[in-house]
Amino acid sequence: MKVIIRPNASSATELTARIIAKDLRANPKLVLGLATGRTMESVYALLADMHRGNGLDFSLCRTFNLDEYVGLAADDPNSYRFFMNNMLFSRVNVDLRNTLLPNGMAADLEAEGRAYEDAIIRTGGIDLQVLGIGENGHIGFNEPLSPLSSRTRAITLTPTTLNQNAGLFAGGKASMPRRAMTMGIGTILDSRRCLLLAMGASKAQVIAQAIEGPVRSMIPASALQLHQNCVIILDQDAAAGLKAADDYKMIFENDPEWKEFRK
Ligand code: F6R
Repeated sequence: MKVIIRPNASSATELTARIIAKDLRANPKLVLGLATGRTMESVYALLADMHRGNGLDFSLCRTFNLDEYVGLAADDPNSYRFFMNNMLFSRVNVDLRNTLLPNGMAADLEAEGRAYEDAIIRTGGIDLQVLGIGENGHIGFNEPLSPLSSRTRAITLTPTTLNQNAGLFAGGKASMPRRAMTMGIGTILDSRRCLLLAMGASKAQVIAQAIEGPVRSMIPASALQLHQNCVIILDQDAAAGLKAADDYKMIFENDPEWKEFRK
């Protein structure tokens, strides 16, 4: 695991977008795993700028989103399909047929989970999985106690997640779906590279548990400690609970891998 702490949210966001763009330029057929949520909005805005201003090309890339609410159709403004179309897909030259999210409207959610896993395998697997983190440590919608080997499936959302996301629903918590489809932790760990972005004081405690605490299913993001190639990008506020923050900063300043990103 590599931990990069940036002085503020905008430099954390910018670094995340630059890493994604570099991978996409190196491999135009990149299979990109994507997240939704407030954290990602600014990342996608920057990627859209890079497409418009610098010709960042999404035409050959394929995308798999982490999750989708059960029971929300693609045209529902609260669905993650709607979010992705609005925040990224309509602003870049990706082929919409190459953008997949779990279908939260599927009649058979178990079969949908299996089909999603198969679709990922058919592309050759996810090259770069972008992640946010919930206040309870979820990645995707893998809520606490999700098996570390879990695959794409339907899960029931916890009260913490309902509270975290209620503000995004016009009708508040009462109008939110109680269930979602999510890639599993095992699915995420199969990605060749993971890139998690967390910003703000509300994530500080769980970030410290995920990075410096034990690997345990109560903190699903702690499973990323098992990944061979995982980068965590934080702003100063989200890094506030880390005991070894100074060490991570020093490593970033000296690691040749990050030379071009230190500018
Ligand atoms: C959503 C997802 C979630 C979010 C997390 C953080 O697709 O994967 O794990 O990344 O809930 O959400 P925000 O960014 O709104 O704090």
